[in-house]
Amino acid sequence: MRRLLVALVAGVLAPGVYGTETSPRVPTNVPQPEEGQFVHVPPTMDDLENNDMHPELKRVIRRGRDLFVNTQQLRGKNVFNNMNCNSCHMGEGRLPFSAPVWPAAVVLPNYRGKNDHVNNLEERIAGCFSFSMNGKPPEYGSDDMVALAAYHQWLAKGVPRYQDGSTMYGRGYPRLPEPEEGMSFERGEQVYQESCAICHGEDGSGLVQNGEVVFPAVWGDDSYNWGAGITRHFTLASFVKHNMPLGQPNKLTDQQSWDVAYYINSHERPQDPRYTGDVKETREKYLETFHKHTNYGLEVNGRLLGDHENLGGEKDFLKPEVLRSRSFTAE
Ligand code: HEC
Ligand code: HEC
Repeated sequence: MRRLLVALVAGVLAPGVYGTETSPRVPTNVPQPEEGQFVHVPPTMDDLENNDMHPELKRVIRRGRDLFVNTQQLRGKNVFNNMNCNSCHMGEGRLPFSAPVWPAAVVLPNYRGKNDHVNNLEERIAGCFSFSMNGKPPEYGSDDMVALAAYHQWLAKGVPRYQDGSTMYGRGYPRLPEPEEGMSFERGEQVYQESCAICHGEDGSGLVQNGEVVFPAVWGDDSYNWGAGITRHFTLASFVKHNMPLGQPNKLTDQQSWDVAYYINSHERPQDPRYTGDVKETREKYLETFHKHTNYGLEVNGRLLGDHENLGGEKDFLKPEVLRSRSFTAE
């Protein structure tokens, strides 16, 4: 059964599913653009090949795309879980409602509440390395960082700089209406068993075959850490609603999406790199800006979530270099 699934998934994930010459400009199974929204269809890799830019720039953008869809090549160096950037930013970072990455290239530099200073594109990318990839970002200005940033900027080709981010069609994982019946572990478990476990596993660990990640882990040591944006219930619920089960966006109701997000968020994962040594203290410190939306530092089913140094996995450090205080001090 799983072998068949792997073959099917390879089809679903074929690149170029969105915005190519042959497919519709806007996918039909997601919300359609509303009046006044800014719609951008990012260029494809074919467009890149046909562009007459300097071949060296093409080479760097190609490398950026390659890192984006196969970030596992940085495993053990910058990545310490089973994620690729593409695991959450699906369709090569181009799909609406799957947090397409081009907006960052035109709205940054900008102030970011999560770290309370002005961030540029490289620092935003670094954020996803530290939390979502449970890793250590490539150094600013390094080949890999330049390549990733160049790929983001290529995807934003033609979008005016400082275009108003709030009007962008399909940006981020837009917040669903609040769940009418709250969120329930039991109902979420049922949704998970019926619609998710077949790929992500009963134990949430996904599927790795011949060293290749086929289905990424949704909890446990190979998943994103407690500081990742997607650990917030509203973010995960929206990701799931618009993108899962794979190839069937909008299959679940809003209620089911909130419930399954709550269920996933009630399991363990690697430590928040901002950990102070005490989970309750860390929750409190980042409560307003972040953890009031997560289960970190809360007791669920008799277990205090996040109460560990780390999960004992391959990552032997907590704070990546980049999390050390970085601020803008010039007058
Ligand atoms: C575990 C899921 C996950 C993974 C893996 C991940 N990200 Fe993200 N990323 C997010 C979430 C969540 C957001 C915030 C989306 C929102 O605001 O709704 C985000 C936002 C971003 C943004 C800002 C987009 C915008 O609209 O401004 C960029 C750029 C980005 N990620 C790049 C990356 C890169 C590069 C990688 C790989 C190194 C990566 N991400 C891996 C979850 C992930
Ligand atoms: C047919 C297999 C399949 C099914 C069923 C499926 N997923 Fe996924 N899921 C994937 C794949 C593959 C990815 C990574 C996408 C990519 O790399 O393009 C993914 C990514 C994810 C991610 C982001 C990365 C991570 O591992 O955390 C989450 C969260 C997730 N799925 C949750 C769910 C939930 C909840 C359900 C059930 C409602 C579900 N999935 C059903 C295959 C599946």
